[in-house]
Amino acid sequence: MSYAGELTKAEFDRLLDRRGGPAVLVHGGAGTRVEDDPALYFAGTKRAAEAGLRVLLQGGSPLDAAQAAALVLEDDPQFNAGTGAALTSAGEVELDASCMDGTTLRAGAVACVKTIQNPILAARRVCDDTPHVLICGPGAEVFARESGIPQVENASLITPRQRARWEELHEQAQKLGADSVRKKIGTIGAVAVDAHGHLAACSSTGGTMYKRPGRVGDTPIIGAGTYADDHEAAASSTGLGEAILKVTLARAACLRVREGDSPRAAAIAAVGLLRERAHGDGGIIIAGPDGRLGWAYNTPRMSRAFIREGMSSAKAAV
Ligand code: GLY
Repeated sequence: MSYAGELTKAEFDRLLDRRGGPAVLVHGGAGTRVEDDPALYFAGTKRAAEAGLRVLLQGGSPLDAAQAAALVLEDDPQFNAGTGAALTSAGEVELDASCMDGTTLRAGAVACVKTIQNPILAARRVCDDTPHVLICGPGAEVFARESGIPQVENASLITPRQRARWEELHEQAQKLGADSVRKKIGTIGAVAVDAHGHLAACSSTGGTMYKRPGRVGDTPIIGAGTYADDHEAAASSTGLGEAILKVTLARAACLRVREGDSPRAAAIAAVGLLRERAHGDGGIIIAGPDGRLGWAYNTPRMSRAFIREGMSSAKAAV
């Protein structure tokens, strides 16, 4: 497994194992391309983690902080979420997102939305303003409009880079069949912990590249893509949704923290479960209520960054 980080692995591990919030940890997906310059990923993930910590230091909740971090990543065209998301086989963007508050277990999610620039904002409104957890498709778009969330043309979410990838996959799909090219992954996520052990998590994605229209992966599913409980941990998953759903990856990792694992050990065990039981590629980030953090992935790269109170800037790895 290749390693590129701003610190050595041992230095990262020491900082991840440190106790005490506030802290924010983000990922930019386990599908991070090996051929890309790591600096592109460092910049975006660091900006996101720092935005999240600023919210906590100004008195915002962990949910506000995780949302602020997710927003930065949704707006960064480098990542597969919001603007710059992967395209379906029909050549459109279809977005999924979810959020969860670990203190109250309130959660919200949207799936298959095509005209919302920041689906994490719509997920948050589902969480705060409705008795529901997940709203999909046209119903979610109507709800977002009623909530005052700006709507955009689908085409405005499509970047030249994703259009070029779609053209490539479309050509391959004509020869090999569509299902054989539907494996490329990417998601963004954030977990936040405050000084009192309150937790939250957010995740957002365009899903797998060239996915069938209407396909939904793990990201908007509470327990699979996102989970937070102050009595356990907060987690955001990334990777092949079909595999992550089968092992409910985020909850599996959080339960391990409740049973006594450190977040770092829980992340490694959860990704091991993903591979052993569901033959899946992916990764996860976790924050524990004591402020310890963890990450693990079984892909060549997963972009990620974190910051704690007292650090002058976030530290990133890919
Ligand atoms: N993990 C994102 C997806 O499979 O949709």
